[in-house]
Amino acid sequence: MEKTFLNFISNIENPLNLEINSLQKLNVKLNSFLEYVKLANRSELKHIRKIDGILRDMNAFLELSKIYDANAYYYRDRNYELYLLNKYQALLNRVQAYATEHTKQELEYFLHKTRETFYPLYPRLMNLLGVYYQLYEYDFSSAIEHYQSAINVLKGIDKVTFESQSSLSYEGTFRLFMNNMLDAMIRSPEPERYLKEIHLIRDYLFDSEAQISNEARLDIAELFAKMGKSKIASNLLSSIEMSKMKNINFYYPQINRVKSIIALKTGNLSIGFDSVVKSFRLCFQVGKPISQKTNMVTLFSTINDLLTGIGLKERISMFKEKGFLDLIINVLETKDRYLAIEHSKNVANLSLKLWKILGGDEKYYDHIYFSGLFHDIGKLSIPWLTLSKPFSLDNIDREILRYHSLESYKLLNLLGFEEEAKVAGNHHERIDGSGYPLGKKNLTIDSEVVAIADVFQAASSPNRNYKNPKGKEEILKEIENDVNNNKFHRKIYEALLLAVK
Ligand SMILES: [Fe+2]
Ligand SMILES: [Fe+2]
Repeated sequence: MEKTFLNFISNIENPLNLEINSLQKLNVKLNSFLEYVKLANRSELKHIRKIDGILRDMNAFLELSKIYDANAYYYRDRNYELYLLNKYQALLNRVQAYATEHTKQELEYFLHKTRETFYPLYPRLMNLLGVYYQLYEYDFSSAIEHYQSAINVLKGIDKVTFESQSSLSYEGTFRLFMNNMLDAMIRSPEPERYLKEIHLIRDYLFDSEAQISNEARLDIAELFAKMGKSKIASNLLSSIEMSKMKNINFYYPQINRVKSIIALKTGNLSIGFDSVVKSFRLCFQVGKPISQKTNMVTLFSTINDLLTGIGLKERISMFKEKGFLDLIINVLETKDRYLAIEHSKNVANLSLKLWKILGGDEKYYDHIYFSGLFHDIGKLSIPWLTLSKPFSLDNIDREILRYHSLESYKLLNLLGFEEEAKVAGNHHERIDGSGYPLGKKNLTIDSEVVAIADVFQAASSPNRNYKNPKGKEEILKEIENDVNNNKFHRKIYEALLLAVK
């Protein structure tokens, strides 16, 4: 069994670009492999390192986290340390895929557990909780506090003890924590607050091997750019670009991001926006999910800075002019292969049509259209294999998929589309409170319009997988049922009838 699974994944060429059939096959194999692991048959885990490497290359971090979870489960009553180590691996991979509130609770639980019983793991979990705060709550001060305590705890552990118990390099772990702290300080809203520490970390990291030193240099360039010291930032950038850094293409998204900040600070809006677009495109070509998320979050707030005081209309025309609008939609619809073709645009158009039929104010036309266009933008943060799973979703998959509208809300807020963020965040809510993620009952009419447009479009347009979408009559019948069950207001349904007739 393990051989077929390992063989199967070893033989996938270009895993990130699978045909839909192979993708489904991959998901089926992954599921049955997980079942096998849970049955505690150990033979299939002989090759866990190889499997780990391959799944990592295909960005299957969530699946890896499930494998380690199953493994932890096996060891729970057999070998306590292996139980905790596997649990740590599970959480580490989970944070790299997509972490929810539930992941945070687990991190806190195991943090307390290891504090008492398995100390070498304690600082690593502390560090991981810091990463969670930084990446998923954008709470930089909590992140920095956690990195700081991780560093302090590690300092109190003897090197030999640490290395023998965790089979990790002490210095490597130390540098990882330092690196994370530098990241969080630089990306925090007020990096100036941490200047003293940043200088200390910089001196420490600049002294290590070339790769780490270059990565730190790039972060420092970003800091100077943010502080308006464009000359120093540009000089650092050119030294990095000339340094023959290993895998430099992985750093191009950040290099372009720094360029966009420099341009912003020197008042060159147009050039800045070009670099934003380039950085966004590149990171979805080369980046791991975790760096895609970091980059996207940083870029979106940069755009918001770039466009301070610029209204929705002008914002949008800038987006259009620079090809950013099409790029976002394109990346989104490539990533989620179950989105109907042109789903975003169709929802936008239908929403606007409904709004007009309902006699909505003309001054909200753009608001409605762009709420519809961006409603699923949060899927950019959801693991691609989870998006590609048409069936056998487990609770974790379901929980993560349900977070996409909350992600839309967060991302659009960062991007400065605050009103549209609310609507997008609500597109799976229903007025009887049966929707998700919050079960809200009081929905504004714009939210309801986009929600019903989404239901209709998702069911009625062909997509790459279900060649035969449901007929219009059938879908309308289903939505009418929803109306009878108080999920939508009748007047919006009546507008829909007029719109799609
Ligand atoms: Fe959605
Ligand atoms: Fe949708």
